[in-house]
This record gives sequence, C-alpha cells and structure tokens, in this order.
Amino acid sequence: RKPLTLHGLRALQARGEKISMLTAYDATFARLCDDAGVDCLLVGDSLGMVIQGQTSTLPVTLEETVYHTRCVVRGLVGGAAWLIADLPFASYQQGPAQAMASAAALMQAGAQMVKLEGGGWTAETVRFLTERGVPVCAHLGLTPQSVHALGGYRIQGRDDASAGTLRRHATELTQAGASMMVLELMPSAVAEAVQADNPTLMTIGIGAGPATAGQVLVLHDMLGLTRGRLPRFVRNFLSGHDSAEAAVRAYVAAVKSGEFPDPVAHSYAAA
Ligand code: KIV
Ligand code: NA
Repeated sequence: RKPLTLHGLRALQARGEKISMLTAYDATFARLCDDAGVDCLLVGDSLGMVIQGQTSTLPVTLEETVYHTRCVVRGLVGGAAWLIADLPFASYQQGPAQAMASAAALMQAGAQMVKLEGGGWTAETVRFLTERGVPVCAHLGLTPQSVHALGGYRIQGRDDASAGTLRRHATELTQAGASMMVLELMPSAVAEAVQADNPTLMTIGIGAGPATAGQVLVLHDMLGLTRGRLPRFVRNFLSGHDSAEAAVRAYVAAVKSGEFPDPVAHSYAAA
C-alpha cells in the first residue's frame, strides 16, 4: 500500500470509496490495523477510558497523547495509514496560540492531522492552524470533552434548532479549513445534510448513520474487548473471526461495501 495523504484520502472520497478509521494507542495494534488495510488511525483521547480506566476523556493530558502518538508512529513505520491525534481537553480551549503549540507537539511526535472538538468558537482556531500548515479534523455532535455541559452521552441534533446549529457549525469549520470532520451520535439525516452542505468535506461518522464519507469506531469496542453496555452503533467484528487482524479486515470490508453501519440497527432517527 502507498502511504495515504490528504490528497489520497480526497481521491477515495471523490470516487465514492468509503474511508475506514479506527482508534489506535500502541504500536502493536497500529501495525495490525495498518496491515489490515485501515485508511486512517486516530490516537483518540478515548485512551482515557480504554487505556487508563478513567470515566471520561477529561483527565487525558497532551503529554500522554504525545506518548501514545509516538507508540503508534513506531508501529506504522513502513505502513500506509493516515495518522490523526486528538487535541485533549484544555490543550486548545484557550485559543489559537495554545492550540498551535499543542498541535506542534502532536505533529512533532508524528501525527499528520490533529482533531479538536466543538463548533462556533473553534472556527477561528481551525483557520489559524490550517493557515499554518496543520491539517485539522473537526468533531461535532456528541463531543465527549463537553460531557458535563451536555448532560451526559446523549444524541445530538435531534430537534430542528440543534440540527440547524450543528449544520451551521459544520459549514463554518469547513470554510475555516477543516478537511475532515468526525460526526458523533446524531440522527443519520443530520450527518447526511452536513455532507451534502459541504461536498468536499470528509465526514467520518460514529453513530451518525451510513451517509458519511467514512466511519470510525473505538478499536477495543469493535473487537469486543470493552466491558459493560455499549452504544448501539458498535458492532463486534471479532465474533465469527479467528483473529484480531481478521476482525479489523472485516470492519474495513464492511465499511467499504456500505454494509456497516446498518441504517437501522446502528443508527438514530430524529426525535
Ligand atoms: O477519542 C476517540 O476515540 C474519538 C473517536 C470516537 C472519534 O474521538
Ligand atoms: Na476523542
């Protein structure tokens, strides 16, 4: 496989091929996912839950994210996946200058793109970063760093007013230079509208229905390793397969074919 670039990812979208993304936090799983053909890996701040056993992403620090990014980068030597790292809570909220310094730490660790949560005030920061050569993935809908303000992990954009705000934020972020956008936990129709509003934006859904340009899941969720009750948008890809690599290959195939996510079983409707 040729190493994926922003240009290469755009070419996938332009020819109607879905983009596959998974989280990765260490070298072994990064290597495995790359070998299995995953297009994009995300060093998500979900590492707070998955790796550290925290109850939210809020305690995750920039230094910890840099450490996991370095681990993943070593697993990707000679590989092809495009690497995104999350800007953790309180590493960019002060404004563009703080965001640039934090993004620099992640890029110097080997990330090729940084992701930040939220709409509205973030547009200025996205413009600042992208004008300075840092590719940005935005993240709208359920933004876990705001879990306490949102009142829990609930579906976003369910009524006309909040769906309208979400679409406006998505367009502002796209105009500010975001080339990719995670859309988390929203009615399928809202994600579909965001993609239609911004045809060249690479929307990556998680609990956002089948209309996005790509899909992302937390690796440990889709491997059936996470204990406790999982959201309905998660599918266990290990069941029916005899290795983690086979499970990840099945995920890539299901995303590419459009078989995952199911428009009913893994998706949400408006209220
Ligand atoms: O941290 C994470 O794993 C994420 C994905 C769920 C998109 O942000
Ligand atoms: Na995240």
